[in-house]
Amino acid sequence: MRWLVTGGLGFIGSNFVRLVLRELPDVCVVNLDAMTYAGNPANLRDLESDPRYAFVRGDIADADAVREAIGSGVDAIVNFAAETHVDRSILDPEAFLRTDILGTHVLLEAVRERGIPRFLQVSTDEVYGDVAVGASREDAPLRPRSPYSASKAGGDMQTLAYFATYRAPVLVTRGSNTYGPYQYPEKLIPLFVTNLIDDEPVPVYGDGLQVRDWIHVEDHVRGILHVLQRGAIGEVYNLGGGNPRTNLEITEVLVEGCGRSMATHVRHVTDRAGHDRRYAIDTAKARALGWSPRIAFADGLRATIAWYRHHESWWRPLKSGDFLEYYKRQYGSRTEIAR
Ligand code: DAU
Repeated sequence: MRWLVTGGLGFIGSNFVRLVLRELPDVCVVNLDAMTYAGNPANLRDLESDPRYAFVRGDIADADAVREAIGSGVDAIVNFAAETHVDRSILDPEAFLRTDILGTHVLLEAVRERGIPRFLQVSTDEVYGDVAVGASREDAPLRPRSPYSASKAGGDMQTLAYFATYRAPVLVTRGSNTYGPYQYPEKLIPLFVTNLIDDEPVPVYGDGLQVRDWIHVEDHVRGILHVLQRGAIGEVYNLGGGNPRTNLEITEVLVEGCGRSMATHVRHVTDRAGHDRRYAIDTAKARALGWSPRIAFADGLRATIAWYRHHESWWRPLKSGDFLEYYKRQYGSRTEIAR
């Protein structure tokens, strides 16, 4: 079998490619990746010579690039390619519309035209918006509140519309906040860990009492594979870790794990605009399919801190050049606030 993975040089995509090549000897992977700032060839360097792995550089919103990657045909497309960072979407929304909506549309057209037997859209719990109480099931209304989550919701809607309209064999997974190795250091956990290793302060937005549900990337990619292989077409599956924590709780573990102190290293700064207070998803549907997360949060977080400690040569080059510009733009205008 030949699978097309898009965005396979990103965080979740590269972990998925690794899982597939490790566990499914009869699957070859073609990785189509635009190599934006978050697509890092170092994430899969050790697999470059694997005869079951091929790389095509290109954008999912470019139909010619998609055609080239599909070549004589593929048995499945798994779409990880996306602009994913909420804070960047607040600064520059346009790239999110292009990749997350138009890019998904281009892939869906290829599925329709070429009769590709499976298409899995990797999505997010953020499409349900702020969840004050309880947990969103897959049939909950979508109420995205950031340019990022609105774009992802657009991609989900296109995907499900292709099932309703053309009977395209699609699936959607909606994952919760993911952590683990190879995560670009703009997101909470890798940003804070790498700042703390460098003895720098960490910027907690607002009061830090926002709640996210954390899942280890290994559990997340196993869930995606499980849904790809066993899910019912036209269906959506939530993949959550079942580890709800406030940002301050996470910060405390990271600060302690890096040998620093809350008093000296934590800055409460101006909140994210439109910041969703809480996400929570009901994962009963994916569990009924036979998937469940395996990695205990305390173990996963400890191992993740250790991974960043031992892989400075991976993240240090990322926290230079354009990243420093971005950091100044994102954080320079945030003022410190009293807790
Ligand atoms: O819920 C799934 C989503 O999780 C994914 O769809 C997104 O692609 C992914 O970026 C993530 O979105 P979040 O906005 O929740 O992740 P982020 O790591 O940016 O922030 C996590 C929480 O930490 C959020 O409440 C904002 C807060 N935060 C984040 C950063 C980067 C801070 O307090 N300070 C920071 O510097």
